[in-house]
Amino acid sequence: MTPVITIDGPGGSGKGTVSKIIADQLHFNILDSGAMYRVLAYAALKNGIDLGDEDRLYDLGVSLNLTFTPVDDGVATVLDGEDISLRIRNEEVGGAASKIAALPKVRASLLERQRQFATAPGLVGDGRDLGTVVFPEAQLKVFLDASAEERARRRVKQMEQKGVNCDYGQILKEIQERDHRDRTRPVAPLVPAADALVVDSTSMTIPEVVETIMKEARARKLC
Ligand code: DC
Repeated sequence: MTPVITIDGPGGSGKGTVSKIIADQLHFNILDSGAMYRVLAYAALKNGIDLGDEDRLYDLGVSLNLTFTPVDDGVATVLDGEDISLRIRNEEVGGAASKIAALPKVRASLLERQRQFATAPGLVGDGRDLGTVVFPEAQLKVFLDASAEERARRRVKQMEQKGVNCDYGQILKEIQERDHRDRTRPVAPLVPAADALVVDSTSMTIPEVVETIMKEARARKLC
């Protein structure tokens, strides 16, 4: 069976960065499942589809012409031949993704597409429900958390590095709202799998988080 490591958690917990480092170290494939929800939200906004219209969103989800293409500094998100990696990383698309992700048919439309990433030599996937719903048989499940305040601080720092000034209070409010929606939705809520290793990264560095997970991966003979 293909080894699968799932890293779930809220936005800003560091799961994307940590997943990439671990996938590189193990030479595993990588799945950024949040990017899929963002692409679907982006395509819906672009096509003027109502964000509550589950049936149309389902059809759009199963028919997306989407590929993740390796590039020098990571993976490019390509929709209909166009690189939309940057376009899906704004608050408008993030908010829309969070909204549509609460709809059962939207989740169903992306499920099979996510499972197809589990190919040799292995997969590191990050998201919200990879350990609970998408890969319940994963050999190692991690739930990476951090306080909302710390995640807001990281986000402000990240934006400032890109030369964008932003308001800490506003960012914190957005994070708390998104968290609430993701954690309380009836379908695939953001909760740790019963057998997940819970790591609180609030006062940990990225290398410390990576080492904690790699130690567990070695203990389970995944590398
Ligand atoms: O990780 P992210 O911020 O790129 O994810 C965007 C949104 O997609 C987020 O609000 C929750 C949703 N999502 C989800 O519901 N399930 C996943 N496995 C991944 C993301």
